[in-house]
Amino acid sequence: MHPLTIAAARSRGTCLRMGLALALLCGSVMAAAAQQPGADSSQVRLGRYLVMHVAMCADCHTPRGPGGRLDMSRWLQGAPIGSRPLHPRPWAVRAPAIAGLPAGWTTAQVVHLLRTGERPDGSHPLPPMPPYRMDARDARAVAAYLASLAH
Ligand code: HEC
Repeated sequence: MHPLTIAAARSRGTCLRMGLALALLCGSVMAAAAQQPGADSSQVRLGRYLVMHVAMCADCHTPRGPGGRLDMSRWLQGAPIGSRPLHPRPWAVRAPAIAGLPAGWTTAQVVHLLRTGERPDGSHPLPPMPPYRMDARDARAVAAYLASLAH
């Protein structure tokens, strides 16, 4: 069993013995325990799966080494875009670092971008950044995964 689950189960038993007066306090202690980083691991796992195997964020946001392979030592740390559109249109030449969230962004701002395509200031990233329309669960999972990485 997960250590947090054991801790929560133990504190639940203690709460029952202490009676009603302390029940509210106990409730908030247990809620705090449930918010420890370990409690989010299934959300972070979903986010990692979406980033690595569905949305392919690393294709653009991770630099490549010789031979074109992704440089895992600089995972999601920003990279030049290696292709150009056949017909000229607005196009970004670089994908910024997103490991540990983009500099100065909150988790909620990343969720908003992934759900609506809008940056915090209302502008839209240029192609080839895809205009994702993720549902809330997926967007939160991707943002939680990015936040779990070191800058
Ligand atoms: C096909 C390439 C590509 C893919 C795939 C891609 N991005 Fe991007 N992304 C970009 C480019 C290029 C920019 C910069 C756009 C600009 O400068 O206007 C960008 C911008 C962003 C920004 C805005 C950062 C800022 O400072 O404005 C975030 C956040 C972001 N991407 C996250 C993601 C996430 C998360 C994924 C996967 C779910 C992803 N991107 C997949 C190319 C890509």
